[in-house]
Amino acid sequence: MMSNALPPECRAMVLFGATGDLAKRMLWPSLYALDRDGLLPAKFQLLGAATSVLSREAFIAKVKESIQTSANSKLYDDAFFATFAARIQYVTVDVKAVGGLDAIKHALIAGEGGVMFYLSTGPQLFGPICLALRDAGLVDKHSRITIEKPIGTDTDTAREVNDAIGAAFEERQVFRIDHYLGKEAVQNLLALRFANSIFEPLWNANAIEQVQITVAEAVGVEGRWPFYDATGALRDMVQSHMLQLLCLVAMEPPAGFTPSAVRNEKVKVLWSLRPITAANVATHTVRGQYAAGFSGGESAVGYVEEVGAKPFSDMESFVALKVEVDNWRWAGVPFYLRTGKRLQKRSSEIMIQFKPAPYNIFAGIGATLAPNALLIKLQPEEMITLTVMHKQPGMNDVTLAQVPLNLSVGDAFGETRRRIAYERMLLDVLKNNSALFVRRDEVEAAWQWIDGIIDGWQSTGQKVKPYPAGSWGPSAAIAMTERNGHSWHE
Ligand code: BG6
Repeated sequence: MMSNALPPECRAMVLFGATGDLAKRMLWPSLYALDRDGLLPAKFQLLGAATSVLSREAFIAKVKESIQTSANSKLYDDAFFATFAARIQYVTVDVKAVGGLDAIKHALIAGEGGVMFYLSTGPQLFGPICLALRDAGLVDKHSRITIEKPIGTDTDTAREVNDAIGAAFEERQVFRIDHYLGKEAVQNLLALRFANSIFEPLWNANAIEQVQITVAEAVGVEGRWPFYDATGALRDMVQSHMLQLLCLVAMEPPAGFTPSAVRNEKVKVLWSLRPITAANVATHTVRGQYAAGFSGGESAVGYVEEVGAKPFSDMESFVALKVEVDNWRWAGVPFYLRTGKRLQKRSSEIMIQFKPAPYNIFAGIGATLAPNALLIKLQPEEMITLTVMHKQPGMNDVTLAQVPLNLSVGDAFGETRRRIAYERMLLDVLKNNSALFVRRDEVEAAWQWIDGIIDGWQSTGQKVKPYPAGSWGPSAAIAMTERNGHSWHE
């Protein structure tokens, strides 16, 4: 159990982009919930910063509305909100103007502990804000900076962003969020692997046939067309969330649950990924783009008919990959990754399929065996299922059926409130625990591997394949696994 004791090191949080979408949907509701649970330091100041000119009252009204319309709306009550609001101030800032951060300086109350800066802004502002904070004298050895993807669009641009951050903050002060690492079910992967003794002896190429990681979304581009069309599924989802999931599945046991130990093991997995280049991009990757179809029982337009779309685009809204991890543990085990928008349903899961039993003693009486599989469903529901072969009850010959051993997290821990992932992430920043944040070398190692794929696509001219909205992606993704005798779990 982690202690709830509050560290003395943070006295304030300055939230840049305080009126933006992420702040509205996630950050203010998370801060409110932390405060309700007594997890914010007593005199903790919350400073909303943005470019618009707003009165404190108008800003607080926005914060109130964001909590009332959020996933934490049930926690809202007027009396407690008044206590929470007493912590909040609003300042207008202009990063590019001389003295543009003065309002922050004036609003911060001096005292023990550092200030946490959270940049909920466009990534093009990460560098300029860090430098402006440094030049304004707002950074000291207790300060922390929190940012979120996208960090660059390739290795070079990621390095530029990291260098600009590094010019103002030391790496130990930098907290790079991957919100998938804030999800309970994702953190539970570490518990499942390293708090139980039964899985680890089997967690390798001797016992495992294949691994699948699926992050499927039912939604389309949702008005983010200009961003999405410059980005695509590989950069948007694989470089960050999917590779983080792969790292947690594939990494060696860390020596402890400490930031260095966990992140050292993750980065080793990234270094072990076999490059996908022009030579193998055709057999190891599939790019797709949704065409018109049906989603959730309703007709859905295609990618290039979305709001704000261009009439033609070759950007992928789906990608499937066959990934190989070149080390002793995983030699020869394919990791199939797929993610996409407008797929049949929202479903994120990891499937570990074991090798078949070495010999079927029931073959003579006509029984076939299916291999065991461990299915870890991350969302929308959290569930862990181990499929085993079981005798069908009855008097006749042995008839076997594959049955699931199910652990529903909802049933097992029904009483516990499911928190927004950002609640955990924000608290970890305040407590100075960076185990679940992404280190600079991880970001850059992930980009290097992704760059190889993008170069391969460009040099071979690999185009997107259409798939109907509401399907599981292009049939080429099925063919990719079938070539090795494997099928996607659906
Ligand atoms: C974001 C991507 O990082 O993750 C989005 O930019 C995607 O395109 C989202 O929709 C998915 O997150 P979640 O938590 O809904 O699975």
